[in-house]
Amino acid sequence: MAKGAKIYAGKCIVCHGPEAKGDGINFPALAGSTWATGETQRFAMIILNGLQGPNSDGKTYAAGMPSQAAGLTPEDIAGVMTYVRNSFGNNTGDIVTVAMAKTALEISAARAKAGQQVTAAELTADHLKTLPGPPLDPKALVNPITLTPARTPASAPAAPKP
Ligand code: HEC
Repeated sequence: MAKGAKIYAGKCIVCHGPEAKGDGINFPALAGSTWATGETQRFAMIILNGLQGPNSDGKTYAAGMPSQAAGLTPEDIAGVMTYVRNSFGNNTGDIVTVAMAKTALEISAARAKAGQQVTAAELTADHLKTLPGPPLDPKALVNPITLTPARTPASAPAAPKP
């Protein structure tokens, strides 16, 4: 969440606003957005490729959204997705993991229209999916550097049976 807040402030706030309410004219809200809180693959494709409207509220915003992929690591993507899904009144209660974000990068690179903004039609046809990867318990300890589950004695693999 902390990493995601930093990425949001650096990448998204300029358009979607400090409370993710958009401005009702050029930029849609992420607070209450079904595309931010719904299927994780759809949300990731919007971040990585940008979006040419219409968006979830049925409107088309003139310039569309440019791709935000430049400079984002899988950790950054996982963080900002988790943050947006669980801030501004959004409350999915789940975590987008680094493994899920890595898969999103692969899916994005393999798109037929790689390099172009996604559209509502493509999102519906190809990306109404939950990104694969083992779920992470929101209460689990994570390594603060790698953002992967921390090894605890309880989670260490059992010793092989003699
Ligand atoms: C340069 C401005 C700009 C930036 C930066 C930007 N967006 Fe967007 N975003 C838009 C616009 C414009 C749309 C609507 C596009 C359309 O409908 O044509 C949009 C749409 C979206 C949607 C779809 C919302 C819905 O419910 O339809 C999501 C999700 C989203 N943006 C997430 C993000 C995230 C996360 C970031 C930061 C990583 C980000 N955006 C950065 C301009 C921006």
